[in-house]
Amino acid sequence: MRALREALGQFATGVAVITTVTPEGERAGVTVNSFTSVSLDPPLVLWCLADRAPSARVFLRAGRFAVNVLAAGQDDLSRRFSTPARDKFDGVALLPTPSGLPVLAGALAGFACRTVRTYDGGDHRIFVGQVEHYERTAGEPLVFHSGRYRELYAHARHNDSLVV
Ligand SMILES: Cc1cc2nc3c(=O)[nH]c(=O)nc-3n(C[C@H](O)[C@H](O)[C@H](O)COP(=O)(O)O)c2cc1C
Repeated sequence: MRALREALGQFATGVAVITTVTPEGERAGVTVNSFTSVSLDPPLVLWCLADRAPSARVFLRAGRFAVNVLAAGQDDLSRRFSTPARDKFDGVALLPTPSGLPVLAGALAGFACRTVRTYDGGDHRIFVGQVEHYERTAGEPLVFHSGRYRELYAHARHNDSLVV
């Protein structure tokens, strides 16, 4: 299991905090690196949450979530939302949103999603969401590789081009 985890950890990813709030006002937030885009039309994204995570119940109940893509230097937020706590949001700067979803200040991008399907994924649940609103700002991402936080460095090459 540990060897598999270490092999999987060779796949470098960004880091996102997925947040939600139920109609009763119960909030949840978890750090994930399982976030990925799925489809552009319709606009779908997915992420995976361990069945045993205490927040799983809240995400299933809320039926919606916000994806907060962390920027370089936001590893403190990543640690906070990956550590069980009574109120992970205590002292965290949030932006006001029309949807009421908790959105973290300073994130590189935010996607407000409605959960359209969940799938059994072994010991995780796969959440597929339809993007209803999104925002982005310029900046460098927080990167996770081999169990460590990293930052990108740019290759100084003349033929560097944007992949679109
Ligand atoms: C960089 C990073 C990525 C993570 N990715 C995931 C993930 O994709 N899915 C998951 O269930 N937990 C993931 N975790 C662990 C959760 O953040 C952690 O278990 C958290 O405490 C779950 O929230 P909860 O205890 O409030 O339910 C990740 C942790 C880190 C540090």
